[in-house]
Amino acid sequence: MRPTVLIVVLVALLVPQLGGADSGADLYLQSCVTCHGRGGSGVPPGGKHFGPPLQGVGAQAADFYLTTGYMPVQRADQEPVRKSSPFSDAELRSLVQFIGSFGGPPVPHPRPERGSVSEGLELFTANCAGCHQVAAEGGLVVGGTAPTLADSTPIQIAEAVRIGPYLMPRFTRKQLDDRQVDSIIRYVQLAQHPDDRGGWGIGHLGPIPEGLVAWLIAGAALVGVAAVIGGRAP
Ligand code: HEC
Ligand code: HEC
Repeated sequence: MRPTVLIVVLVALLVPQLGGADSGADLYLQSCVTCHGRGGSGVPPGGKHFGPPLQGVGAQAADFYLTTGYMPVQRADQEPVRKSSPFSDAELRSLVQFIGSFGGPPVPHPRPERGSVSEGLELFTANCAGCHQVAAEGGLVVGGTAPTLADSTPIQIAEAVRIGPYLMPRFTRKQLDDRQVDSIIRYVQLAQHPDDRGGWGIGHLGPIPEGLVAWLIAGAALVGVAAVIGGRAP
């Protein structure tokens, strides 16, 4: 191919993509500004559209709320729930970067492989299980629902611990340091895959069997954890 032809082809390929790719600022104006205000200044409750300021929440909260599909919500007065995001990966990255530019903590980089399952089980039981139950199946909280952690990624877990989304408390590094969070993630990963018990898929059966099965899975996960801990003991 002659160079001029090559250039024409390249330009033809690139131009529509450049034109079509929305910047984080544009996406924010289209999907977020009504509830979060210009420059992330927030909109006070009272009307139909409201939301907290996003200045200082950082890429950390933006990444959590966007990758879980919690945001955007249709109505400001509903608890955000996990759903598939309307944004492409590239759009998510631009939005996270844009909200990160208002200032605040970056996206964390957990390393669950350096955590300990037994410490994770202990910390999860003490700090999380009251709402999320022992095997990381969801549960009811007054005024909201603590979701199952079946689909939470290590990064989302590390983010949730620091952010404290909705009714969840936030944990400072004094309360749980990054190593301890690594252990919690490692335990949750084990609970997400209790050996050949059908995983979380069984949850589709409905509320009553789901509750019963949750206890079975919890028991199975505990036996699994005990086996792992037992196997580790010197
Ligand atoms: C219909 C109103 C509405 C829309 C639209 C909306 N949000 Fe929200 N947003 C809220 C409300 C209300 C909360 C508080 C809920 C909570 O704490 O979980 C919130 C919370 C957040 C938080 C957490 C803030 C914190 O203090 O940790 C982030 C980040 C966020 N939204 C980002 C976005 C982004 C990005 C968009 C656009 C893609 C968006 N939101 C669209 C209403 C909205
Ligand atoms: C007081 C109850 C409560 C406690 C304690 C609690 N959480 Fe949560 N958690 C919630 C609620 C409620 C939500 C849903 C937030 C929302 O809807 O915006 C949540 C959401 C999450 C999510 C996101 C789930 C998803 O949709 O993928 C993760 C991850 C998480 N919590 C982890 C933890 C961990 C780890 C701990 C312990 C260190 C913990 N939580 C302690 C109530 C709690």
